[in-house]
This record gives sequence, structure tokens and C-alpha cells, in this order.
Amino acid sequence: MIVAITGVILILFVIGHLLGNLQIFLGADWINGYSQHLRDLGPLLWAIRLFLLCTVVVHIYVTIQLAIANRRARPEAYIDKEHVKATFASRHMVMSGLIILAFLIYHLAHFTFRKTDARFALLKPDPLNHYDVYSMMVYGFQNYLVSGFYILGMWLLTLHLSHGSSSFLQSLGLNNRTLTPRLAFGGRVFAWLLFVGYTSIPVAVLLGLIKSAQQL
Ligand code: HEM
Repeated sequence: MIVAITGVILILFVIGHLLGNLQIFLGADWINGYSQHLRDLGPLLWAIRLFLLCTVVVHIYVTIQLAIANRRARPEAYIDKEHVKATFASRHMVMSGLIILAFLIYHLAHFTFRKTDARFALLKPDPLNHYDVYSMMVYGFQNYLVSGFYILGMWLLTLHLSHGSSSFLQSLGLNNRTLTPRLAFGGRVFAWLLFVGYTSIPVAVLLGLIKSAQQL
């Protein structure tokens, strides 16, 4: 239940974060203004960050405890293992989760702490005197390796959520012969929609559809 509840909180964050990021397609004023609004929340922003951090830590800690208990329950490996129902995504939740964590650490260093690209410190504020998050994203994603790593991270997130976004219902006791397969299908569609939404940003930058007005 703890994994399910923390998972739902993280899913809500991932939806909100995507909606915020997609404003890049509306122009620099939108995304820079949005980012400034978040910063203007001041202590509330820090409270939300702390809450999210605790949620991630609890989600990971409990899932790893579960994985260990699961292994201890059957120390001897199966001689012959045939997967009847378990999907690839469901069997690799710990692995995809840990790689998403690595992605998240890189992502925070990249866009929140801005430690991986020296050019981000050279960006001038936009005409409304907001930090130019728009140009930061454009310069960040113009690098093929960075964009490639983001797309890999998004793919693993999709894999993770294509199972997690419906399995949490079962963990909370909502299991029904007809409804469960439909929800599982809906979960997979939802995860792929997130993939398309998130990856559209680096892809649009690499295709030159989004350009920065600043010259570095
Ligand atoms: C193409 C995909 C993504 C883009 C373009 C993107 C963009 C950004 C940007 C620009 C920031 C800094 C916001 C600011 O300082 O104003 C940020 C922060 C963050 N992102 Fe993402 N993000 C992406 C994917 C993700 C994913 C998949 C996750 C979660 C698994 C995630 C989690 C976070 C977190 C936790 C923060 C820190 C928020 C804060 O500053 O408090 N991001 N992202």
C-alpha cells in the first residue's frame, strides 16, 4: 500500500511536470513565466520539494525491502521458469526504477542545479527579467548525447509506469475480472502518452523546431 500511495503521488507529479514543460511550445514567455511563478512560491516550493523527496525515498526504500523479502522467500532459483502472466515491465520494476533514479540525479544536476553545462550561467534574463529556462532547455537538448540519455530515461519511465500506473489499483485492493485487464491497457496507453509528451521536447529541439533567441 505504501508503494502504491507514494507511486500515485509521483505519477501526479510526472503529469503536472509534463504539463508545465509542454509550455515550451507556447513560447519563451510562457515557460519562463511558469518557472518564475514556481520560484515565487518561496517556502511553499521548498515544502513541496521536501515532500517529493521523502516520497521518492520511501517509494524506493519500501520497494527494495519488498524485493529482498521476495528473494528470501525463495532462496533457491527455479530450474524452469515460464512467465504466464507477468509482463516484461512488471518483471523489471526494480531495474527500471533504479535507472530512473540515476536519470533523476543527472536531471537535477542538469536543469535544477545547472552544474553540468557551463553555458547555462551565461544566459541573460529574458525581456521580462525572468531566468531564461526556455533557452536553457534549447541549449541543453541540442546535445545529441544529452537528448539521447533523456529519451532513454523517458523510455524506462514508460516501462515502469506501463505496469505501475495500473498495478497500484490492485495493491489497494481494487481487483476485478473484467475491469483489471482494461485498467492495465489504460495504464499502458497513459505511460506511452507521457513518453510522447516528454520526448517531444528534445526531439523538437533537435529538429530545430524550437530555437533560442539568445546567442551564446
Ligand atoms: C524531456 C523531459 C523533461 C524536461 C524537459 C524537464 C525539464 C525540467 C526543468 C526545466 C526543470 C527545472 C525547473 C526550474 O528550475 O524552473 C526540471 C526540474 C525537475 N524535474 Fe524535470 N524535465 C523532464 C523530465 C522529468 C522526469 C521524467 C522527471 C521525473 C521522473 C522529472 C523530475 C524533475 C524534478 C523532481 C525536478 C526538480 C523540481 C524542482 O526544481 O523543485 N523531470 N525539469
